[in-house]
Amino acid sequence: MSESRSGTGSRARHLRALLWSIVLIAAGAMVLPLTAYVWTAAVQAQETTAAQPATPKTNPRADYWREVRSAEAGYTAVRGQETNVLIQSRGEVWREVRNGPVMILGALMVVGMIVALLAYHLLKGGAKLEHRTGRKVLRWVVSDRVLHWYTAVLFIILAITGLSLLWGRAVLIPILGKEGFAAWAGLAKPVHDYLALAFTAGLVVMLLKWFHHNIPASYDREWFRQAGGYFSNSHPPAGFANAGEKAYYWVLVFGGTALVISGFYLLFPNLGFERAAMQNANIVHGVSALVLTTAVIAHIYLGTLGSEGALEGMISGEVDEGWARQHHSVWLDEVQHGRPQPAAGAARGSAAAPT
Ligand code: HEM
Repeated sequence: MSESRSGTGSRARHLRALLWSIVLIAAGAMVLPLTAYVWTAAVQAQETTAAQPATPKTNPRADYWREVRSAEAGYTAVRGQETNVLIQSRGEVWREVRNGPVMILGALMVVGMIVALLAYHLLKGGAKLEHRTGRKVLRWVVSDRVLHWYTAVLFIILAITGLSLLWGRAVLIPILGKEGFAAWAGLAKPVHDYLALAFTAGLVVMLLKWFHHNIPASYDREWFRQAGGYFSNSHPPAGFANAGEKAYYWVLVFGGTALVISGFYLLFPNLGFERAAMQNANIVHGVSALVLTTAVIAHIYLGTLGSEGALEGMISGEVDEGWARQHHSVWLDEVQHGRPQPAAGAARGSAAAPT
């Protein structure tokens, strides 16, 4: 009995072992072939990672344009000035300087001068002619006056047309509209270009002809120390030109030279100037024009409302002796006595009007 029980138990074990063996063989037969797929996929993934670096972050065409913008000279069959440089990126810097500091600081300078003169005139009033004698002294001969008004009228036209081009977008487009401004700019540009040549000739002759009036003298320091007497009503010594007029003359010499040379670059681009030179010339031209315009505004005030009796000299050629004594004592002494007098007092003696 016990023998037959042990025989049944061992058969059952054999049967279980057989069943497990079949299950394992069947499972192995199904799973093992799949390892080939896993292996291949792993190898492929590894190869792909090695072959492809990081996904590019930038558009490959961007590199092309970056190279173009580097202003490196390339090849072109078109012959001519800088034709092998497709884009000169420095132009962007020029645009920002012109439309930024030049336009804005320039406007502040010009408007600041107008506001300062207005404030001075309202608070203090211009220099009155204290004692009109009725006696006349010749100051400007006909050629001086023609030269002055010729240059002055041309400068004013050039300032209006030139500043229209500089400030037009900001100031005139809102007033005239785009089409109105385009029509005005189309006229302003050629007028500016042609009159520039006529102005240059007048400026050069005027500055050369009046050079001898504008050589600094020792008493000019005293004139500056008293600020020309414009705030204290004093009358500091002055020769034919006072120290302020001499300073104005030298601003015209240096500012005018910068203006004319830079203008020449802009007027004749085909003479072989590179784009960078034209950009520099444009900035120099704008800055010098704004400095001169500011100085001319002060000059116009001092030649009219700021100094009673000055304008009649530039119109008729003669000034009142009282005005000459008040504003140009050293010069009046030279005219009357042939040499400067030690102390410049009130107007005296009869006028010696040279002819
Ligand atoms: C409407 C505009 C202008 C008026 C009313 C005017 C008025 C005058 C007057 C009255 C004088 C004589 C001053 C004196 O006798 O001491 C004078 C001198 C002079 N003007 Fe004008 N002017 C004008 C525009 C200009 C312009 C645009 C320039 C040059 C760009 C200029 C350059 C000169 C120079 C160089 C002198 C010689 C004295 C000096 O060195 O300041 N003027 N002006």
